Amino acid sequence: MTVVDPYSEFASVYDRWQWLHAAPFSTAMILRMEQALEEWGVPERSLLDLACGTGTLARWWSEEHPDWMIRGVDRSAEMIERARSGDGHRPFRGPGGENAHAVPATRGEGAGKARTKTTRAPKTTPRDATDPVFEVQDITRLSTETRFGMVTCFFDSMNHITRRQDLSRLLVGARKSLLPNGLFLFDLIDEDSFEEIFSSPWIVQDDDLYVGSETQHFFRGDAEYGRVRYTFFGREPRERQPGRTGASRSGVGGGSHWARRDAEILERCWRREEFDPMVEDAGLEVIHVQLIDPEEQAEVFVPRRLYVCAPTR
Ligand SMILES: C[S@@+](CC[C@H](N)C(=O)[O-])C[C@H]1O[C@@H](n2cnc3c(N)ncnc32)[C@H](O)[C@@H]1O
Repeated sequence: MTVVDPYSEFASVYDRWQWLHAAPFSTAMILRMEQALEEWGVPERSLLDLACGTGTLARWWSEEHPDWMIRGVDRSAEMIERARSGDGHRPFRGPGGENAHAVPATRGEGAGKARTKTTRAPKTTPRDATDPVFEVQDITRLSTETRFGMVTCFFDSMNHITRRQDLSRLLVGARKSLLPNGLFLFDLIDEDSFEEIFSSPWIVQDDDLYVGSETQHFFRGDAEYGRVRYTFFGREPRERQPGRTGASRSGVGGGSHWARRDAEILERCWRREEFDPMVEDAGLEVIHVQLIDPEEQAEVFVPRRLYVCAPTR
């Protein structure tokens, strides 16, 4: 069976779509990563970003921390192509266009045993820092020889993993990718908001891109799912569209035309009751969970929980 990758269509408008909102999701995560680094420290300055998409987080972290060794992996060849090219990349400016590192007050819960606070990784032990490296890889089948000081997986990417066995493999893979005392940070859509999020359609647009999203919320057995059907109409340079059907508007925007793209994304609600024991079984300890509300930080789009985990073995 051929599985269609929804992000193959999404890739070319993904960065533009994110900038239709307050700021890309990574803006909020960079600040949370800084906070985690300050709070718990990492054994080495190296980062593996799972489901890295177009590489925004990896590139921004590299700008802010040029001495880190950074790798990003994603299943979508088109997203990785964008990440490698750096097309659509804009410099990190922080929320509100500033390079400020202000993070809203936390409402965190220490979920496991308190981890001994370590200091920041000493400035003398960077990895072989280079530009971030991006690879096509399925994160439910991670093959990593290198271990990292920090592993991340952001922006609902864990909710994109809809089968329990795949999620277990992902968690074990993430743990194996971590150095002892490393940190694994990821987010999950808030389970109490899941139904509402996937029950309301929305539209965002500017002069060059229209994005309409139809949503659907449903159960299959005990499992709860949300589906989003995106329709994009974007103005694109004519030469990027060989052979694509699209309403060509001669005279509008010179050498550009409007093209339609569609993507359908399925996500699963992972409830803490089921999810947290899976984290533990994978050899990870939850050291902090924090609800982040878009009312406090608009870049997170919807209410979600940020997890900070560390390997137990
Ligand atoms: C909402 S995007 C988030 C991308 C990026 N983390 C960000 O913050 O912009 C979800 C990403 O998860 C990736 N993804 C979904 N399932 C995956 C899998 N099994 N293995 C690797 N990547 C996957 C998709 O290709 C997509 O790039």
